[in-house]
Amino acid sequence: MADVVFITGATSGFGRAAARRFADAGWSLVITGRRADRLKALADELSAKVPVHYATLDVRNADEVKAVVAALPEGFKQVKCLLNNAGLALSPNPAQSVELEDWHTMIDTNVKGLVNVTHALLHTLIEVGAGASIINVGSIAGQWPYPGSHVYGGTKAFVKQFSYNLRCDLLGTGVRVTDLAPGIAETEFTLVRTKGDQAASDRLYRGTTALSAEDIAEQMFYIATLPDHICINRVEVMPTRQAWSAFAIDRD
Ligand SMILES: NC(=O)c1ccc[n+]([C@@H]2O[C@H](COP(=O)([O-])OP(=O)(O)OC[C@H]3O[C@@H](n4cnc5c(N)ncnc54)[C@H](OP(=O)(O)O)[C@@H]3O)[C@@H](O)[C@H]2O)c1
Repeated sequence: MADVVFITGATSGFGRAAARRFADAGWSLVITGRRADRLKALADELSAKVPVHYATLDVRNADEVKAVVAALPEGFKQVKCLLNNAGLALSPNPAQSVELEDWHTMIDTNVKGLVNVTHALLHTLIEVGAGASIINVGSIAGQWPYPGSHVYGGTKAFVKQFSYNLRCDLLGTGVRVTDLAPGIAETEFTLVRTKGDQAASDRLYRGTTALSAEDIAEQMFYIATLPDHICINRVEVMPTRQAWSAFAIDRD
């Protein structure tokens, strides 16, 4: 039977590119996200190649997550790779000008959502054992501070530490856990962050070479298909044209 990958946030960006990458290699796909029309379009595109099951899912809703996992059809139940990819940043403004609701949405999605899906699939992954993997999409924002990152960076620091801690508890089960932490990548991420400001999104990516969704999908596939005895704990990947900058100093 084909290996199964369960992808959150498969309607766009990294998640959608990962669905295509894993399909190219013959994996069966469980694709999830909130936008049903996009899931259906992706399922239509890929189901000629591989078995595809799609389910609308808001990762913030723990009951919905449990129900989607419980309803996985035969052939999709034995999930070998969980791609915990769904996530978002909101409000790239200074903390003092951000709506509390935006902070809550990031925590509910990037932290609680990721935990909901992990909890629902953990026993399945342990059953699959050797070669199974959880790939949590973190961010360079989880390691490095920058203005306007506030709670977003905080949620991704959680993803990193949760991934490391899972490794400790899963020792002996064969299940690998990776914090995959990208730098700037051109997806719908900035459009979401700016609440639909296409010009701001275009400005951010203009004149440089950001990572593409396909670049990250390739990393995901590489991590998931390493020999069983290899676990990459963390990958931090930036485009060559991105680096850190000097400390900021407040002056008179
Ligand atoms: N692009 C970057 O520069 C970058 C860098 C580092 C890390 N990341 C991380 O990479 C991951 C993927 O982002 P992306 O760049 O591919 O952005 P994207 O194109 O906006 O895709 C985000 C995906 O997350 C899904 N999602 C958001 N909220 C959700 C919810 N409550 N329930 C279920 N799905 C939800 C969206 O699907 P629906 O809206 O259909 O639900 C969408 O498929 C995120 O965790 C992000 O934080 C991105």
